[in-house]
Amino acid sequence: MSYRVPFVDPRTHYQRLKPEVDAAITECLSRGDLIFRQQLRDFEEMLAAFVGVKCAVGVNSGYHALHFALLGAGIGQGDEVVTVAHTFVATVSAIIHCGAKPVLVDVLDDSTIDPDDLERAITPRTRAILPVHLNGRVCDMDRILQVAERHGLVVIEDAAQALGATYRGKRAGGFGLVGCFSFYPFKVLGGFGDGGALVTNDPGIARIAGLLRYNGEDRETGEYHCHGYTALLDNVQAAVLSVKLRYLPRWIEHRRNIAAFYHEGLQGIRELRLPAFDGDGHFDIFQNYVIRSQQRDALRAYLSEQGVETLVHWPKPMWEHAGLGLEDPGLPKTARICREVLSLPMSAETTPQQANVVVEYVRNFFKQA
Ligand SMILES: Cc1ncc(COP(=O)(O)O)c(C=O)c1O
Repeated sequence: MSYRVPFVDPRTHYQRLKPEVDAAITECLSRGDLIFRQQLRDFEEMLAAFVGVKCAVGVNSGYHALHFALLGAGIGQGDEVVTVAHTFVATVSAIIHCGAKPVLVDVLDDSTIDPDDLERAITPRTRAILPVHLNGRVCDMDRILQVAERHGLVVIEDAAQALGATYRGKRAGGFGLVGCFSFYPFKVLGGFGDGGALVTNDPGIARIAGLLRYNGEDRETGEYHCHGYTALLDNVQAAVLSVKLRYLPRWIEHRRNIAAFYHEGLQGIRELRLPAFDGDGHFDIFQNYVIRSQQRDALRAYLSEQGVETLVHWPKPMWEHAGLGLEDPGLPKTARICREVLSLPMSAETTPQQANVVVEYVRNFFKQA
C-alpha cells in the first residue's frame, strides 16, 4: 500500500543525496576499497569527533556494537546487567549472548529507565547498567552515573536511537564506558543497509571490539588474539555514512521542527499523551515521535484508512514472546506502554504539510470518538 503520509521516505532521501552518495560509492567501487580501508577509518574519526570521544569502531549493526561493548567490558557468565524491557529486543539479546542475565526494570513516563527501579534491582552479581536512550531522548545520566559509581558498575549506553541527542550539553554515547549506535536505514543516521558503531574513551575496549569484529585478527600482524566474528562495517556503508553525517545536525533540526509542529497541533486532546520535549537538560532528537492513547489500535486503523502510516514500537512486552525465554519481570508501566504507544511519521523527509495532515486526522479521530 502506498501511503499519502509514509512513516519514512527512503526514495526521496536517496534522490536528495544522490550526487554525493553516488560519488562516494563509485569511489569505493572503482578503487576496489571494499573492506577495512580508509573510508572506514575516516568515518570512525568523524563519528568519534561528533560524539566527543576518543575512539569509534564501526561494526555491522547496533546489535554487534552492544555485544562487543559488553564483551569488551568483561561481562560474561554469571553476571547481571540491568536494563529496560521497553527497548528493541537486540538490547537484551546482546546481554544473553554474552552468557549474562538481563535484569529488566521499568521506565519513566518519558520511556527512559527509572533510576530508582534500577537501583533496587542491583544485586551482588550486577556488573553493568545498560540504559537505552529511546526515541532520541537521553536517560537521566546524572542519576545513572551516580548509581553506577555507588555500586562500582560499568555503564554501557544503548544510543542506537539517539545519535546527536544531548543531556546537560553532552552527547549520547559519551557518558558511559561505551556508547552503541545503529545505522539501520531508518535511524537518524542510517546507512543503505545494516550498520553500527561503538564509541569509547577507552582504547583497550576499542581494541577488543576491533579484534572481535574481524574474527579476532590483528590486521597489522596477522595474529589471532581471540575467537571473534565477521562483523565489520562495510567500507561502502562507511563512505555513505560519512556523507550523511555532515547533514545530521540539519536533519535533527528538521525532526525537532516536525516534532514541535505535532506538539503544538496535538495539544489539548484529553485522550492523548504527547511525548516529552526537551526540559531538564535534555535536547531530544526525535528518532520517533511517540504519542500514547488507550484507543491506540482504533486510532492507528483510522489513520491508515486516511493514508497515514504509523508504527507501534512495540505492541507486546518482550517477556510475552515465549521464544525469548524471559521471566515476566512484572513491569506495569512497560506493559501499559505497549498497549498505548503509536509512532507518527517522522524522518528528515517528513514535510510540514504532511505533519499537518497527520495532525488534522488525529484531531478528527478524537472529535468523532
Ligand atoms: C534501542 C535499540 N537498540 C538496539 C538496536 C539494534 O540495532 P541494529 O538493528 O542495527 O542491530 C536498535 C535498532 O533498531 C534499537 O532501536
